[in-house]
Amino acid sequence: MTAFLEVSNLTRQFGGLTAVRDLSFTVTQQEILGIIGPNGAGKTTAVNLMSGVIRPTAGTVMFAGQVITGQSPHRLVRSGLVRTFQSTTVFTDRTVYENALRGAFLSVYPGALHTFFGTARARRMRRETEQRIDELLEWLGLTDVAHLTAGNLPYGYQKTLGLVIALASRPRLIMLDEPVAGLSAEEADQVRETILRVRDSGITVVVIDHNMRFIKGLCDRVLVIHQGHELAIGKPLDVLANPAVIEAYLGRGHAAAHR
Ligand SMILES: Nc1ncnc2c1ncn2[C@@H]1O[C@H](COP(=O)(O)OP(=O)(O)OP(=O)(O)O)[C@@H](O)[C@H]1O
Ligand SMILES: [Mg+2]
Repeated sequence: MTAFLEVSNLTRQFGGLTAVRDLSFTVTQQEILGIIGPNGAGKTTAVNLMSGVIRPTAGTVMFAGQVITGQSPHRLVRSGLVRTFQSTTVFTDRTVYENALRGAFLSVYPGALHTFFGTARARRMRRETEQRIDELLEWLGLTDVAHLTAGNLPYGYQKTLGLVIALASRPRLIMLDEPVAGLSAEEADQVRETILRVRDSGITVVVIDHNMRFIKGLCDRVLVIHQGHELAIGKPLDVLANPAVIEAYLGRGHAAAHR
């Protein structure tokens, strides 16, 4: 199968520290690729490099046949690549609906909202966007809480709202940084089901998490990063049974591999 996302020899140094070192892997269309590894392994840095948040020291990233290395996050969102952050990106003092609308508009018209809203074309696009948001909220089960302040909702809903914000820009690939961190087992199961539905709708997913039950139940393949470099890649059960992977976790006093 051809690669939808292709990472080649990706490297990022921070001063003397090499956070990501010569990392190469591919993701095929509609695949769910998990990225795991001990704290500080370089997972978030890898996603930051692929989503344009920071530039690589070396290496290239290709998405849908185009070289995208070093492009800004806004440009990548317009190409269909969007990511969520490890901490929630929800505006806690705004409603669920307002948060979702922001996801749709800020990605398309960064910084130009005031001039944009005046025109007839803008009003039509706003109507279309509002319809899209209504559908998304319905799809992910947030319709009943759409007009509640986001910060007052249980954390599971806020994480789902983070997904809605990402999906509002009509991505073809989403990268999720720890979408179930801090959630109960039941909430994590719900988020897993939601992500599976997102994939079934045609979207490719790259997901970082420390929750191995979640990763096992969700991912087609798992990439293990250790000290910035690929330690293993393959089917979840194979990777989690790999002695080098268990060693990497235990070596850091990390019990996640056995959860
Ligand atoms: N902007 C930065 N400046 C300097 N060092 C950084 C920066 N961002 C990350 N690092 C360092 O790079 C290494 C990898 O960090 P990263 O956040 O990618 O790890 P991670 O695998 O996401 O860990 P966690 O599971 O704890 O989220 C760490 O040693 C971290 O301190
Ligand atoms: Mg991280």
